[in-house]
Amino acid sequence: MNQDTLLSVEDKVISNALKIRFYPISVASAFGTRLMDAAGVSYLDLSAGWAVAGIGYGNPRIAHQLKQQYESLSFTSQLTIPEKNMVGLAQKLIEIMPGSFEKKVWFGHSGSDANDCVFKLLPLARNRSRMVSFMGSYHGQTMGSLSLSGHPAQAKFIGSGNVLKVPYPNPYRPPFGETTALTSQVIQYIENEVFRTVCPPEDTAGLIVEGIQSDGGLVVPPDDFLPELQKLCQRYQISLIFDEVKVGMGRTGKWFSFDHFDLTPDAVVLGKSLGAGLPISAVVARKELLDTGSGVHMFTASGNPICSMAAWENIAILEEERLIENAAENGAYFLQMLGELQQKYEWIGDVRGRGLAIGVELVENRSTKAPAAEKTAAVCYRCFELGLIVFYVGIHSNVIEITPPLTISKQEIDLAVSILDQAFKDLESNSIDMEKVKQYAGW
Ligand SMILES: Cc1ncc(COP(=O)(O)O)c(C=O)c1O
Repeated sequence: MNQDTLLSVEDKVISNALKIRFYPISVASAFGTRLMDAAGVSYLDLSAGWAVAGIGYGNPRIAHQLKQQYESLSFTSQLTIPEKNMVGLAQKLIEIMPGSFEKKVWFGHSGSDANDCVFKLLPLARNRSRMVSFMGSYHGQTMGSLSLSGHPAQAKFIGSGNVLKVPYPNPYRPPFGETTALTSQVIQYIENEVFRTVCPPEDTAGLIVEGIQSDGGLVVPPDDFLPELQKLCQRYQISLIFDEVKVGMGRTGKWFSFDHFDLTPDAVVLGKSLGAGLPISAVVARKELLDTGSGVHMFTASGNPICSMAAWENIAILEEERLIENAAENGAYFLQMLGELQQKYEWIGDVRGRGLAIGVELVENRSTKAPAAEKTAAVCYRCFELGLIVFYVGIHSNVIEITPPLTISKQEIDLAVSILDQAFKDLESNSIDMEKVKQYAGW
């Protein structure tokens, strides 16, 4: 099937509920940091499949282990007959997560079912019915995880009523107006307004947060925010949960985004890149939060030996090939290069990130900060035409998200920045075909 045929058949047979599209592409193969389409055109991938291909595509070590695993034990339902890969993986995750308290692990298939786990089990474990989450957050699309989410992608659904959503401290667009005290404004709002009115802290089981809000627009909160949030939770014995599905597993230059601060969450949610492309998610948490009853959040193929093997080998690769260090070093280089690009184009309002979780926010004008959604879509589209895969995120659809495989090299970063530069030049000279761009709604 050639690409045009594939895309038109796909259009007919695949549910729109499963789509966000930015341009007409399909993929035939992928290796390392590159995708290849059916016509043999190669693209440098700055998305890593929405941050799933953390160690890149087609890693031969994983391929080898998977083949052997499938031949020796293709499946067991770990709910009833466990085996060593899942158990070993759980031990490893417990070791990586900070905190000297007793921990346990729950396994699922997606970030969504893992956040569902938190949403179901925490209120039960704590005997407190409410949860707090943040506006702009993306925790998934099952009914439980969408209830926790504060992103427009889930806004068509009401979700469960026991979640109170509070503003996230976005330094570029401060929720309460320009201030030099963003952290204390948000913390005081939660403590003095929310807790005193609609969400009594003694009835609040947990607060879930992304250390960097990714689908919300790659928003990096002020450095004092997460530590102050932990103190707030401790004052009221509210469990603190970090959703590390997108920015965890080394992407920010440390295992987890909260590791940049002296923090010990009560639960950590993992997914996406955990399985190196295979579907596996996990919640690593205080033992008592996950031991709320037998068989209350089970999926038949949870922690299956194939996906567990992939995750185990993935962690070994991250450690042995020093990919987390690479994310820190090359992420800093990427940010520096994008900072230079920002000097050239007024539309680049903000460049921010940590490690290889980077956002480039486009505005119509730097003083009004009016979001430039159409221009963002056009730049992404033009990058695709020039051989670079980038998507946009954000509650205003105006942030180019850069989450490449952690294996990306400085040469590849130079190439990516030169393509972005060209795309901005083409935008400036009105040479991007906006009719083509408009056919793709993105989100
Ligand atoms: C932070 C975060 N949590 C959870 C999810 C949901 O993960 P999944 O799509 O695997 O269900 C996502 C997906 O983008 C995410 O970014």
